[in-house]
Amino acid sequence: MRDCELLCVSFGNFYPFSHTMFISQIFPHTEGQHIVLKGWINQLRSSGKIAFVELRDGTGYIQCIVELKKSSDGGWVNQGEFDALKECGIESVVEIAWTISKHPKKDEYEIHVSKVDVLSVAHDYPLGSKDHGVEFLFDNRHLHLRSKTQWAIQRVRDTIIHATYDWMREHHYTKIDSPIFTPTCAEDSTELYEVEHTNGEKMFLTQSGQLYIEAAIAGHARVYDFGPCFRAEKSKTRRHLNELWMMDAETAFADYEENMKIQEDLIYFILQEVLRLRMKELVILEKDVSKLRNIQKPFPRKLHADVIKELQTMGSDIKEGEDLWADDEELLMNYYDQPLFVTNYPKAIKAFYMPEDPNHPGTVRCSDLLAPEGYGEVIGGSEREGDYEKLKQRILDAWYNLDDYAWYLEIRKYGGVMTSGFGYGLERLVRWICGLHHIREAIPFPRYHNRITP
Ligand code: 4AD
Ligand code: MG
Repeated sequence: MRDCELLCVSFGNFYPFSHTMFISQIFPHTEGQHIVLKGWINQLRSSGKIAFVELRDGTGYIQCIVELKKSSDGGWVNQGEFDALKECGIESVVEIAWTISKHPKKDEYEIHVSKVDVLSVAHDYPLGSKDHGVEFLFDNRHLHLRSKTQWAIQRVRDTIIHATYDWMREHHYTKIDSPIFTPTCAEDSTELYEVEHTNGEKMFLTQSGQLYIEAAIAGHARVYDFGPCFRAEKSKTRRHLNELWMMDAETAFADYEENMKIQEDLIYFILQEVLRLRMKELVILEKDVSKLRNIQKPFPRKLHADVIKELQTMGSDIKEGEDLWADDEELLMNYYDQPLFVTNYPKAIKAFYMPEDPNHPGTVRCSDLLAPEGYGEVIGGSEREGDYEKLKQRILDAWYNLDDYAWYLEIRKYGGVMTSGFGYGLERLVRWICGLHHIREAIPFPRYHNRITP
């Protein structure tokens, strides 16, 4: 059996057609095996006959010691290979082969590099030094993304996405892809990006797929979408993007209380998955993981009116009936170590599809989920107005064109049921879970005020 076949047998079904493996697969089972890695040089130091390479291959980082050949018994590289390696700048690409062996006395593994092939040489990497301004880094986002902290953030983001898909599937939700081009407004007409259709018609980039997945309720009962949404807001806060990824979920036969239970189950599951799979990345990000571990279900719930009073005692000048702005949420959530559901916002400040709560007149059956450590809103959700006439009136009250919403109203006419739903902002979750100062780091290529490049 050849080396590569041996590896395939011992590690399952990866790279079945090549000798190459991933750094994340190396320890602890590979003692005595011949390994080939391909990756980028993250750091390189050399002196005399020895070089220290930190290699990165997308799955992790590993230190390799490369020594110039000392004897004919193998285990070291020859002069040509060693010279070629020394010529490399960081971000050069190499293929390295070695054997891992256990130190004869200590409980440690040693890596004897036996072959180095330089696949691509890089010099003068612009992001080599540590001191760069934020704008420089975002101008060079195409390079910045490969840095260790950005790598860690994207891996956490990926885990949040996969945990979401796993949870939704496990709980009988069907993914329904909603359109990006829409003729109507889903949330707030002041934040719409207008685009022109090929026939000259006016249309908008979606703010949320909610209205469309509501149409799929009668077919699938539990549905969700996950995709980019666009908000033309001019906010320059650390939590607003113009292009964000939203996961909208909609559940038939659920009221807004059940809707909150669904959200807390999902968020709790996401946190457990990140803690299970991405500890190394959270350590790189210097996140205090005890704060994530400490989170328990159920999350506390508070009425919007009570939160206003609480904020006033904290020194905010917020008035009764007003929305919570970013600074209010930050102030409030610095006092909480658990996510908080703020429920029953005043009807006047929430979207047209939220029904009034007869138990708290003047308010709607909605909840925003605010993240602790000062992060604030990560989810917006509510029950949906199911009454045809009331919904029609709310659309008229909002000065929307009734014809545009005729299809949405019809959902109530044929097999209408109580439904509730919510939408999470992926970058808001990433920001909180990774402990990021600014939301622009939570998305690979951020679009926010004054930035649409690269
Ligand atoms: O609260 P929002 O506006 O709710 C909706 O769009 C509903 N239609 C969702 C639903 O019920 N299906 O937005 C949902 C979430 C927010 O809680 C926030 O996390 C995120 O989307 N979000 C933003 N994230 C970054 N930048 C922005 N400009 C955002 N606007 C909303
Ligand atoms: Mg909201």
